[in-house]
Order: sequence, then C-alpha cells, then structure tokens
Amino acid sequence: MIPVSEPDIGEREIEYVDDAVRSGWVSSHGEYISKFEKGFKSYIGTEYGLTTSNGTTALHLALSAIGIKEGDEVIVPDLTFISPVNAVLYNRATPVLCDIDRDSWCIDTEKLERLITKKTKAIIVVHLYGNSADMDRIMEIKEKYNLYVIEDTAESLGTEYKKQKLGSFGDVGCFSFYGNKTMTTGEGGFCTTNNDEIYQMMSILRDHGMTPENRYWHEYIGYNYRMTNLQAALGVAQLERLDYFISRKREIAAKYKKYLEAYVTPHPTGDNYNGTYWLYSILAKDKNEMKLLIDFLYRKGIDTRRFFYPVHLMPPYIQLNKGDYRFSVDISERGINLPSSVKLSSEDISYICESIESFYRAH
Ligand SMILES: Cc1ncc(COP(=O)(O)O)c(C=O)c1O
Repeated sequence: MIPVSEPDIGEREIEYVDDAVRSGWVSSHGEYISKFEKGFKSYIGTEYGLTTSNGTTALHLALSAIGIKEGDEVIVPDLTFISPVNAVLYNRATPVLCDIDRDSWCIDTEKLERLITKKTKAIIVVHLYGNSADMDRIMEIKEKYNLYVIEDTAESLGTEYKKQKLGSFGDVGCFSFYGNKTMTTGEGGFCTTNNDEIYQMMSILRDHGMTPENRYWHEYIGYNYRMTNLQAALGVAQLERLDYFISRKREIAAKYKKYLEAYVTPHPTGDNYNGTYWLYSILAKDKNEMKLLIDFLYRKGIDTRRFFYPVHLMPPYIQLNKGDYRFSVDISERGINLPSSVKLSSEDISYICESIESFYRAH
C-alpha cells in the first residue's frame, strides 16, 4: 500500500537519539530539550517555547494557563480533529461549535462572531490540513471582544499568513509532532507564545504545578506533560530538515493540483497564506462518490483517509449542536486526504493521479 503519511527518519535522527541515550539524560532534562525549544520557537518566531508530551496536552496546557474553567465558553470549529474540543471539556468548560468557511475549511469568522456571549473567554482556531484561518479577522474579533486566541497549528506547521508563521498570532500556538505530522518526535507537542505570564504558567503546570524556586511545593494542581530528551533529540534532527519537508510537500501539492483539478475540487490555496499541505486533500462531488473513490483507490493499493466527522454529530458532543453546520457537514462528506508523505516518488504520484483519472473515466 502507498501510505497516507510516513515519517522520514534519517541518519542524523539516529545519531542524535543515540547520543541522547548514551548521555544518560533519558527523561525530560537534557541538552536536546533546550536546543529543541530554542530552535522551534525561533522557527515560529515567538519569544517563548515549551515542549510537551503531545499536541493534545499542549492544548490542555494552554487552556489551563489562561484560566479556562467551568462556566466559560470556548469557540471551536466543528470540523477538526477532536483534541481541541476535548481539551476544553477537560477543564469543565463548554465548547461552542462553529461552522467552517467553505474555501479555507477553517472556522467561519462571521458565524463565529454571532456565537460570542458574555461567557465566551477564548477561540481555538484550528488551521486544517496545512491551510490557514482568516487571522486578520480573528485578531480583530479578539481585540473587539477581549478574548484569548489559541491557534491549533498541529496540521499547519510552517504555513505563513501574510508572511508570518502560524502559531505566532494568538496568545498560544499549539503543535503536534505525532508520527504522521510534517515533522515528528514520535509523540510530542509544543506551545509557542509571546506572553511571559502565560509561558511561566504553562511551565509550572507542565511540571506538576510545582513552584520552580521551591521544589515539591505545589501552588497549583498541575500535570506531567513533559517531552523526553530522547524525543527532543529526534526533534532537533527533524527541525534541521523542516524546510526540505515543507518544500517537498508543496512540490507534491503542485503535482496533484495540476493533474487532478480536471476531475475534483483541489486543495484550496488561499490568497493570504502560503499553505504547507500537511495532507493534500481533494473534494469529491458528494458523499457517495467520496466512498466509492476511497474504495477504488484502496483496491489499487493506495491508502487514503476520509475527512474528520463534524464534531456535533458524534455521541459525546451531540448536546453541543448549535444548528448551522452546513459547510462542516458538506466538506466532511466529500473530503479525501491523499498520500502526502515526503517520501513519495514521482512514480507514486503519477500512479495515484492516473488511478483517480481512471476512476472518473469509468464513472
Ligand atoms: C488539529 C489537531 N489538533 C491536535 C492534534 C493532537 O495531537 P496529538 O496527537 O499529538 O495529541 C491533532 C492530531 O494529532 C490535530 O490534527
């Protein structure tokens, strides 16, 4: 099978991880942690950066650090991987699900504004599949209503909105380095911020809520959300190759677009952002065609993914339904993620495109 994604682990990664293991610094202290935190935050362009155990804990840490609690409302898009919704629920706050924009597949800023109430404390913007939300409008809304903005940038590492990296606009940017992401640390995550107070709070909460100057004195109920030095060693090596990963993703996207736009709706390319195509995605005509195409490609040895399900349709979240999710439902029913690994060969891409072409010729 041609996989949807596959990590690209090179000799440098093995060398650094080997070095980390041999150093004896196998837990969450060690040179690679500080090197990775310094390197990654400067890549994103924020003053502070904090490694975490994964992307979900990065989101939970960010929400906890800004004080999200029971009774608060946090607006989250209805079409997303589930983590940001769950992170709100972990704090006993209420996720308010918002429809998405049909072009960017990210949160619809007009509908978002209508969902703001006196209880709204924050917006979690999810930059989907390498795309970017409308950050100008989001930041205007933030100022107008005095809200926090958390950017879930797990899927859009390296994407620039008007030449500024995503994850550096909001109060906190959250990232994931799961094995299928643009770069990986195995499991792992990251929080970026320019806010000193939020950074200090996230550092404390990540480490059991322990007061930094007074070991074993806990001012807060914290967590162990730390990354290990071994994971950070992998991260340092991957970061050295991140520009290559991103340019390769863009190259793959350009090939797919050229070949496939005659048959399907191609992955959007926004006017204001330079996407990174974490998973190159297409839209079929309807739900039935989406399913048939996925099955057809599977039989040809090509693995794909359907899009995420709209959150408001799934059992634990049904009571969060606010009514109008027409684009979330529509895009979810038609979307397919194609193989997007940087290790795809030209022959692989041609084979995938020809297979899609043959599907449409037969239908
Ligand atoms: C948008 C988004 N947010 C959060 C996460 C969670 O990251 P992790 O799997 O590292 O917890 C993911 C994917 O894994 C994601 O796609």
